[in-house]
Amino acid sequence: MKTNDIKTVTIIGAGAMGHGIAEVALIAGYKVFLRDIKQEFVDRGVSMLDKSLKKLVEKGKVTSDHYDKIQNELLKPCVDMKEAVQETDLVIEAIPEIPELKKQTFKELDQYAPSHTILATNTSSIKITDIASVTNRPQQVLGLHFFNPVVIMKLVEVIRGEKTSDETMDTAFNFCLKISKIPVRVEKDVPGFVVNRINAPAHVLRGCILDEGIALPEEVDALIRKEGMPMGPYELLDYVGIDTHYHILSYYAETIHPDFKPYQAIEKMMKDGNLGQKTGKGFYDWSKGKPKIDPAKATDKVDPMDITAVQINEATKLIEMGACTAEDIDKAMLYGTGAKVGPMTIAKDHDPKELTSRLERLSKAFNKEIFKPTQMIREGTYK
Ligand SMILES: NC(=O)c1ccc[n+]([C@@H]2O[C@H](COP(=O)([O-])OP(=O)(O)OC[C@H]3O[C@@H](n4cnc5c(N)ncnc54)[C@H](O)[C@@H]3O)[C@@H](O)[C@H]2O)c1
Repeated sequence: MKTNDIKTVTIIGAGAMGHGIAEVALIAGYKVFLRDIKQEFVDRGVSMLDKSLKKLVEKGKVTSDHYDKIQNELLKPCVDMKEAVQETDLVIEAIPEIPELKKQTFKELDQYAPSHTILATNTSSIKITDIASVTNRPQQVLGLHFFNPVVIMKLVEVIRGEKTSDETMDTAFNFCLKISKIPVRVEKDVPGFVVNRINAPAHVLRGCILDEGIALPEEVDALIRKEGMPMGPYELLDYVGIDTHYHILSYYAETIHPDFKPYQAIEKMMKDGNLGQKTGKGFYDWSKGKPKIDPAKATDKVDPMDITAVQINEATKLIEMGACTAEDIDKAMLYGTGAKVGPMTIAKDHDPKELTSRLERLSKAFNKEIFKPTQMIREGTYK
């Protein structure tokens, strides 16, 4: 199937991600079925979508004629799975991150959707190949990993499972362009895909900084804010949820390397039930609202280039594996994280010898194999 043959799209799950994906497809003019398991969940998704669309109308980004067309013609909220998929060309699943639930849903999708239909998952961590394996059309299954909030974040990682066909990859990639997103091809079904994978060793290094008593969360956050980021990394983890962070690190420890095992500080927070903003306490006290971070507290004991170096190292692992190109890595980090410069562009300004010795020093100091420089760094072939 070619991208122009896609007329109808189905979104499974009307939550935080699903309603946003439905919204961008509706804005692009697609007919969209939005399915959830209960009418009240469908209604909640439709009302979030409507609120966001109205803001876009106010800003002049969507015309009121198109808004009316979405309401009267294009948007089809529903609970019945058969109704949601029986005439659809592309399904994007955005239900909770529970492998068995996703697999059961893909079995149903495979059963009810027409044979030409592409089935995509917005999973953050489950292997695309595993989800595809329960269907009779693994060549038409892939990952379409959107970023939160969907309406604002431009990046979509387009992930190939072991059996995904070239045609499916191309059709889905071009669909992302049609809905005004910036797609990046991920050619290998690797844990974390691109953005989350590149950030993963940075989390480990920041964990070492806490566990070794080198600096406090506020001191690092003040430093990173000074560097121009809108939010510090620990502050961001309080928003995301310490439990979510813990489960992601545990998943990487199982699937990538034991060095990703959750660090002591995060183990303790889990034990104490300090899960971030939602419990009123995480790295910060949220009981009186947003924490105030004092810029004067920025640490001089952490070199931000150390954090960038482990990200560059991880990026070169993806290139060496053939998962992503250097250009696409930078594109992903720019549009998926709000970074101003991508890691592979930063790398070009750094001598391979300097990067190699920096990474060797970090690997030795914190006893982490994952910080060891790759062949690409050692040989300078990233230049
Ligand atoms: N939230 C994020 O920042 C983010 C970012 C990227 C990817 N993801 C991934 O997107 C997926 C959805 O995450 P979310 O944050 O939107 O979750 P959410 O909990 O906000 O929404 C999930 C929705 O799916 C519905 N649902 C459950 N079972 C269903 C079924 N069988 N059929 C239809 N609907 C069903 C739930 O009722 C709920 O409304 C997950 O796989 C997550 O890992 C999330």
